[in-house]
Amino acid sequence: MTKTNATNITWHESHVERSEREKLLNQKGFTIWMTGLPSSGKSTTAFTLEHELMKKGHLAYVLDGDNIRYGLNKNLGFSAEDREENIRRIGEVTRLFADAGVVTITSFISPYRKDRDLARKIHDETGLIFIEIFVDTPVEICEERDPKGLYKKARKGEIKGFTGVDDPYESPDNPELVLKTESRSPEQVAGEIFEYLCNRELLLNEG
Ligand code: ADX
Repeated sequence: MTKTNATNITWHESHVERSEREKLLNQKGFTIWMTGLPSSGKSTTAFTLEHELMKKGHLAYVLDGDNIRYGLNKNLGFSAEDREENIRRIGEVTRLFADAGVVTITSFISPYRKDRDLARKIHDETGLIFIEIFVDTPVEICEERDPKGLYKKARKGEIKGFTGVDDPYESPDNPELVLKTESRSPEQVAGEIFEYLCNRELLLNEG
């Protein structure tokens, strides 16, 4: 639970409705939350989807685990508490992005169910759509891929508490979408998400 230290604060209502931003941008903002093991394909899928959406005229933006830890969350490590705070902040940031009208895509391991559920709750409370996607790549395949060599380091004991090796990953109970990435191109995987968004009629002007 995050301790609240902010006192004597007052919510200031904007003069602009969300619907006015949506009209200006000709799109709806929402959040696509990708979760999965390291090297499962979250970032590759997220950036491919972002590119596809932009090519089709939809403003999209990726918040990526590694990238966010270069700046906003550079003070957080990989303990359960720090991962919780990492995801809490990103839950709040995605809500702001989605409220601003952006198709917001995250790629964070986000290993704990309760932390992802909190991100969903934050969206639900403000009437924003939250789509949880489980990038369901078996750990053996992730370890085989290991583009950053981190599984290797973790196996040698050079990284402690590495997700999938000696730190837990709780897969979602009820995600909106489960993606398989084995023997599939990033375009195919991102295309599956695009199709899902079209079927739910979340992208305006897409038949
Ligand atoms: S999360 O668990 O808090 O959601 P996040 O997605 O932000 O993790 O960051 C994961 C990235 O941090 C991995 O892609 C990897 O490059 C790096 N990393 C460094 N140490 C660890 C670790 N102990 N466990 C998992 N990832 C780690």
